[in-house]
Amino acid sequence: MTDTDQGMLELEWKGRTGPFTVWLGEGVFHPTHTSRTLAEALEIGPDDVVIDVGCGCGVLSFVAARLGAKRVIGCDLSERAVEIARVNAERLGLQDRVEFRVGDLLEPVRGERATVIIGDVSGIPDEIGKLAGWFPDGHAGGPTGAELPAAMLKSIRENDCLVPGGRIYLPTGTIQNERTILETAKALFGAANLHRLLEREFPLPDVVARSKAVARMMREGILDLRTRGSRLLWSLRIWRVVNPGPVSAPPA
Ligand SMILES: C[S@@+](CC[C@H](N)C(=O)[O-])C[C@H]1O[C@@H](n2cnc3c(N)ncnc32)[C@H](O)[C@@H]1O
Repeated sequence: MTDTDQGMLELEWKGRTGPFTVWLGEGVFHPTHTSRTLAEALEIGPDDVVIDVGCGCGVLSFVAARLGAKRVIGCDLSERAVEIARVNAERLGLQDRVEFRVGDLLEPVRGERATVIIGDVSGIPDEIGKLAGWFPDGHAGGPTGAELPAAMLKSIRENDCLVPGGRIYLPTGTIQNERTILETAKALFGAANLHRLLEREFPLPDVVARSKAVARMMREGILDLRTRGSRLLWSLRIWRVVNPGPVSAPPA
């Protein structure tokens, strides 16, 4: 990470389709292991129209564009993130194919129909997000980390912004109430339409691993962390969720 003359932090993305650099402003999420693993799992072709929900600085939108997507729309609740993402698109020469919009979940893309949705909204329990400092603007995933991702899945269904056969790329992990997110995805899209693509394990930072919040959430069965020596490990999984199209209402 380096400082630019314009007072921005510059990050070199060494993940898929990299290396390229993105600027990060104050309060904008820094791409992580999850961003890199999600980028690895993406399946994108030249006919794809992609929506990147929770785009942050835009890094996964740029990966999708560099993989050949026809059009990409990134959206984020953070105005600052969207401003920086627009600058990044210009710097990378991708502004003709990649645009960014501000707003809650799928609200900014109402009326659009994508073939791919990258669903990377914040999904860490609020208390853990604060301890780790991963969400500089304070928007984590809700009390158990499942609330925001589950709301995003419902918003995709309600706004009808994914074509039948379209794919959602969804990260889940044992550092959040993963069961609730997967149950929501199965209820909305059907269990047969969830496919696990990748799984990785990472150590929790010590400040988080030793916290009372983590001990309590493990006792309550919200988190499911593994111990290795003196470390606590969490598992990240990336899912492809396929939209079966309209689901008929169950008989009354
Ligand atoms: C885990 S970060 C991922 C950012 C980016 N995809 C990356 O890999 O760097 C989650 C993003 O979700 C955004 N976010 C939080 N709540 C949101 C909401 N209700 N609607 C849209 N975006 C939201 C945050 O501002 C943050 O940029």
